[in-house]
Amino acid sequence: MKRTHHCSQLRSSDSGSSVNLSGWVDSVRDHGGILFVDLRDREGLTQIVFDPSNTSLGDQFASIKPESVIAITGKVEMRIADAINVSLATGEVEVHASSLKIHNISKTPPFPMDDSADKTSEDLRMTYRYLDLRRSSNANILRLRHNTCKAIRSYMDDNTFIEVETPMLFKSTPEGAREFLVPSRMNPGSFYALPQSPQQYKQMLMVAGLERYYQLARCFRDEDLRADRQPEFTQLDIELSFVDREEMYSLIEGLMHRVWKDVLKVDIETPFQRMSYYEAMDRFGVDKPDMRFEMELQDCEEIFKDSSFKVFSGAVASGGAVKAINVKGLADLTQGELRNLEEVAKSLGAKGLAFIKSVDGEWKSPILKFFSDTEKAALKDQLNIEDGDIVFFAATHWERACTILGRVRLDAAQLLVKRGKLTIDPCDYKFLWVIEFPLMLFDEELGRFAASHHPFTAPVEEDIPLLDSDPKKVRGQHYDLVLNGVELGGGSIRIHQPDLQKKVFEDVLKIDPQLVESRFGYMLKAFEYGAPPHGGIAFGLDRMVTILAQRNSIRDVIAFPKNQRAQEMMTASPGTATDKQLKDLHIKASLPKDEAPII
Ligand code: AMO
Ligand code: AMP
Repeated sequence: MKRTHHCSQLRSSDSGSSVNLSGWVDSVRDHGGILFVDLRDREGLTQIVFDPSNTSLGDQFASIKPESVIAITGKVEMRIADAINVSLATGEVEVHASSLKIHNISKTPPFPMDDSADKTSEDLRMTYRYLDLRRSSNANILRLRHNTCKAIRSYMDDNTFIEVETPMLFKSTPEGAREFLVPSRMNPGSFYALPQSPQQYKQMLMVAGLERYYQLARCFRDEDLRADRQPEFTQLDIELSFVDREEMYSLIEGLMHRVWKDVLKVDIETPFQRMSYYEAMDRFGVDKPDMRFEMELQDCEEIFKDSSFKVFSGAVASGGAVKAINVKGLADLTQGELRNLEEVAKSLGAKGLAFIKSVDGEWKSPILKFFSDTEKAALKDQLNIEDGDIVFFAATHWERACTILGRVRLDAAQLLVKRGKLTIDPCDYKFLWVIEFPLMLFDEELGRFAASHHPFTAPVEEDIPLLDSDPKKVRGQHYDLVLNGVELGGGSIRIHQPDLQKKVFEDVLKIDPQLVESRFGYMLKAFEYGAPPHGGIAFGLDRMVTILAQRNSIRDVIAFPKNQRAQEMMTASPGTATDKQLKDLHIKASLPKDEAPII
């Protein structure tokens, strides 16, 4: 019974022909003994009719259950006019089965096999991911991901890039995210690290003279997980020689144009808008602003520098900022919603989240009593405060004030969307280059300055003298590509001079010279043998596909993703190792008491 057609192919013109179909039973309807089965394969659905008066069938068809795998032979017939289903490609016809082979009867799936399954527990769906992926909405995402990779490969090939695979067993590098370590059996006490990115290898490929490299590279980072982060993810990784920033922007704009065109048939606008890191933070409170709506942050230092409200005037006096944001139409927010915004602000280091709301022509706020009439008038004027608005304030050092209100901006926008007062269209693609990052930023977690991108990023040429005198002022040749509030990719023009690279490691980033030698010595050496000027970028492929597929979670676009606890539920990974395995690897597990492995 070799199949002659896919379940999406039959049309009225096929009526009368004999066909073989194979697939999964999508649904079974019993109409007085006659069974109507929707048969599903990868490509689509076809209605099969099992009539018990057709004795060649026997009686086994009575046992067909949804999700069973069957093959049938039958004759294509036109449906009666009333039964035509215009929303189905094969909806004009049905196949009257004359023989049936049951390959496998399925148990009842643990969740519905349609989109209502999205409401069931994600861990349950992931435990049965092979069933979850049978649902057409999920299967379509894998196909869309494939089409995305195909468009990327075709564009990179057209532009003479060569795809090269770099090692998965790499070594530990300081300065990056936390790594996954792999013990080496052959080298007792030594560890590989899974690569966070192919950064160092791709730069070595440039020294090797490859000139244009790309790779769809698997990367590993042992970070806390969020909706847009996975411990193992895929980058579109690119590096090229003799390149400057302008050439990079146009290469990537062309790439995005090709991907959106091939995958979604959408013509995105190029060139993309550009904005400095400083402007993005100052106006939107984040280095990856969602440009689909306005609601910009305002500076209120002038208004409050002499205010009797010491929280505000004190911030100005100590060189900080008083930032405000007017959320139009959100004065009706509930106590619970307000509390949530306050909690978010506090988690970002705010002492509180001062606000003023304008309701029925009156301003309401716990801090109103501290404001003079002049301050109120200036505020109303600058922020265009109208009835129904709520204004939030953050008074602290500039970066923190921006970050706090940047988060409030995003959360408040969601509250407006929920109320139908704001539309944020997932198909409105607002690409943005964020540029002119400082070479170093203060890292709250490390408690010191660290490379804002990575230690290989070249300083802006005219800022090089500042490396000695005022390194915090040095701008890096770093660029991020942001789309609708998501950091899609980031890269830079690299340092290719050994002396400058050594200086950045040791004098600027203060990495111990011995550590520099043991971790990066080979790189400094390589740069002494004719390193071309070079630069590159890497994109989060999973993030890109999440946006193309209009999904909210990166887990939806990965075939077998990990959950928030970094577990892959279907195979129950990670798992324990046997004593023998550990012994071979010269490893001893020393777990805190009561901390038995979860799975
Ligand atoms: P970066 O660290 O910015 O740069 O990473 C590049 C892009 O990879 C994606 N990404 C992730 N996606 C899913 N899960 C994660 N945990 C995760 N972490 C990062 C993001 C990000 O923009 N070597 C440099 C690139 C270069 O300079 O060429 C690098 O890795 O979309
Ligand atoms: P306080 O005088 O500390 O009671 O604060 C008065 C109001 O200002 C309260 O609503 C606080 O949540 C808020 N607030 C306190 N500190 C700040 C700050 N740095 N920025 C913005 N609002 C603040």
